[in-house]
Amino acid sequence: MKIETRYPLLAHNTFGMDVKAARFVEYDSEEELCDFLNAEKVHLHPFLHIGGGSNLLFKGDYDGLILHSAIRGREVVAETADYVDVRVGAGEVWDDFVAYTVGQGWYGAENLSLIPGEVGASAVQNIGAYGVEVKDLIVSVDTIEVATAEKRVFPTEECRYAYRESIFKNELKGRYIVTYVTYRLSKLPVFHLDYGNIRAELEKMQCPLSLQTVRDVVIAIRKSKLPDPAELGNAGSFFMNPIVSRNKFEELLKEYPSMPHYIVDENRVKIPAGWMIDQCGWKGKALGRAAVHDKQALVLVNLGGATGAEVMHLAEEVVRSVRDRFGIEIHPEVNYI
Ligand code: EPU
Repeated sequence: MKIETRYPLLAHNTFGMDVKAARFVEYDSEEELCDFLNAEKVHLHPFLHIGGGSNLLFKGDYDGLILHSAIRGREVVAETADYVDVRVGAGEVWDDFVAYTVGQGWYGAENLSLIPGEVGASAVQNIGAYGVEVKDLIVSVDTIEVATAEKRVFPTEECRYAYRESIFKNELKGRYIVTYVTYRLSKLPVFHLDYGNIRAELEKMQCPLSLQTVRDVVIAIRKSKLPDPAELGNAGSFFMNPIVSRNKFEELLKEYPSMPHYIVDENRVKIPAGWMIDQCGWKGKALGRAAVHDKQALVLVNLGGATGAEVMHLAEEVVRSVRDRFGIEIHPEVNYI
């Protein structure tokens, strides 16, 4: 177990904020975590549990305890002719796990290639890309209750998953820490190729369809649009895509006939916030040291040395423009700390 004070967080947030945590604790096992929770009564003081720090914007130093999981390991816990269930430590890097599933010839996670962050956060955030959400793969989530240090396993049905939402972000926020996630991967071929330009890119490659070629295409598309945090601080999509009523959607479509959209159900439609921000003319524009990425307007970037306040100011201006032009309120996906 690692216990540090006045701990620099630069390597723990992809936005590249040079801030410190009053205390930082990294544990290697459920036992270590439980001992620490019992000894310190963590739930009585301000604390934050982080993963890869790819969805956070620090407004300044964090005056409390930051917890981080270093629980590693992957174990096949069930297997049939059709599928395999793999239990994975919360501290494993998400994309290392995806690469492993592709290497094993297991289907399901390949569209989620190159999403930054760790396994624990995947289950909290319900990460998603290219027509797949991680909730489609999750069988159960192992947790420890912060107040009691007791174990509790949440089957997927109890996680209240929705687009970028889960019970761990809402009703039970801060009450349970994810220690392991069990994913079900298919041994039979099932591909999801209908989102955006995946199929077109595959055709361009002229390679036979396989898990590896889908992974390669997803990685190529992501690299062409999303900035590498090692070069330009960012937290992926800064905003969620808003879901609007069918009436609102039809009204907008009259004005913008080529507006991209995804039908959620009979009454609701998702509109890409990146498209709206782009329409408002923000792409590539900067306010101080924070900017809207020039290849994907949904991403805000740190041009170097930006403060959390600068990024938040830019975000507020973007939200205001979208509200004025489209009458739609967009909300950050990134957590302000
Ligand atoms: N668009 C523009 N201009 C832009 C950006 C987008 O016109 O500057 C248009 C695109 O042409 C496209 C539509 O908006 O027609 C959607 O764009 P894209 O496919 O790039 O996806 P997105 O809706 O902007 C979401 C996720 C991403 C995920 C992609 C692919 C959210 C908040 N974001 O972005 O997730 O990779 O779909 O599935 O749902 C993340 O969460 O950090 C993330 C990167």
